[in-house]
Amino acid sequence: MHTLVHDALASSLRRETIVSFRNLRKDYGAITVVPDFSLEIGRGELVCLLGPSGCGKTTTLRMLAGFIAPTGGEILIDGQDVTHVPAFRRDVGIVFQNYALFPHMTVIKNVEYGLVNIGMKKSERNIRVQDILRRVELQQLAERYPRELSGGQQQRVALARALALRPKVLLLDEPFSNLDAQLRLRLREDLHSLIRSLEMTTLFVTHDQDEALTLADRIVIMNNGTVEQVGSPEEIYDAPATRFVAEFIGRCSLLEGRIVENSEFRTDDGLTLPACGTAGNVTAVIRPENVKKPHELPGVPVREATIEASDYHGALTRLRLRLGKSSLIMDTQFPVGQKPRPGDQIDIVIDPAGLRFVPRPNDV
Ligand SMILES: Nc1ncnc2c1ncn2[C@@H]1O[C@H](COP(=O)(O)OP(=O)(O)OP(=O)(O)O)[C@@H](O)[C@H]1O
Ligand SMILES: [Mg+2]
Repeated sequence: MHTLVHDALASSLRRETIVSFRNLRKDYGAITVVPDFSLEIGRGELVCLLGPSGCGKTTTLRMLAGFIAPTGGEILIDGQDVTHVPAFRRDVGIVFQNYALFPHMTVIKNVEYGLVNIGMKKSERNIRVQDILRRVELQQLAERYPRELSGGQQQRVALARALALRPKVLLLDEPFSNLDAQLRLRLREDLHSLIRSLEMTTLFVTHDQDEALTLADRIVIMNNGTVEQVGSPEEIYDAPATRFVAEFIGRCSLLEGRIVENSEFRTDDGLTLPACGTAGNVTAVIRPENVKKPHELPGVPVREATIEASDYHGALTRLRLRLGKSSLIMDTQFPVGQKPRPGDQIDIVIDPAGLRFVPRPNDV
């Protein structure tokens, strides 16, 4: 197990850098949209930019593509400073949210467009186009026009067009957002295996945390144009660096308090939990799956909580609990016919191994 983790770490460290953002900045007049963005993307890596609407994801991606000129900083692609290089010379492929296909061209013409532009010979072009159409399973639809295709098919044409030029970097800006939930899931899996099989260096923009958690090698969490945390999906979920990340990814309970010298976390309203960490004010982060029934974790102090609300989700029931003055979320199951009601008491334990701490904001 440990060797595996080590190998994965070592191979990610060995990766050659393909994209570097260095102190990138974007202002619109007096408004700073991206104050200072730095990130390196390794060869073959799939990085997701994830953050709420308006946080600067599209702006950052478009600066890399060359459609938006940065106000400051540098962008390097494969070691070359491209900050002032026009978009068409940057060797990036891009898939937009609305696909932006040429409506008067068939699928095959759309896909081969970039290759014609660079003057590739017809024979070579044909081989390239057929190969990519096969990979995205569009061979049967090659002679259709975009209006004769479903949303998911159009999305695959856009992807094929971006990949036909074999760019150094593939950029995707919310490529699934116009599609229904089931199709999204299927295309996500298809895209994942395609990108993997091509070992394509990819920057993927989304505000969908599930998409980021399932697709990414690394996730970059953005908030107001700045990077809150960069890490693997597991790191981001299991060890959020900030309160923003903890709340943005997954569900959690946040308890304000402090770590006191005898290795104890004490909430402002007197609840205590075992904890290690430096003494001082902190916010505790508790994921719903770390609040358990006593028999699941013997030897941990049992507490009596009050059920405030319960939501049935099929495989689990999510409870909102009150414990003293603190509010806690718990994911659990009940036998059929035993429906929890608001006001009921329930015995719980909090798994000390699942307790995380983030800096506590001054104003709380
Ligand atoms: N041309 C512009 N002039 C002024 N402000 C702009 C301009 N373009 C974008 N912005 C602002 O920059 C901020 C970041 O926009 P951006 O499109 O990068 O967000 P985003 O993270 O992609 O959001 P979404 O998830 O909604 O697509 C927003 O607050 C937006 O209003
Ligand atoms: Mg956007």
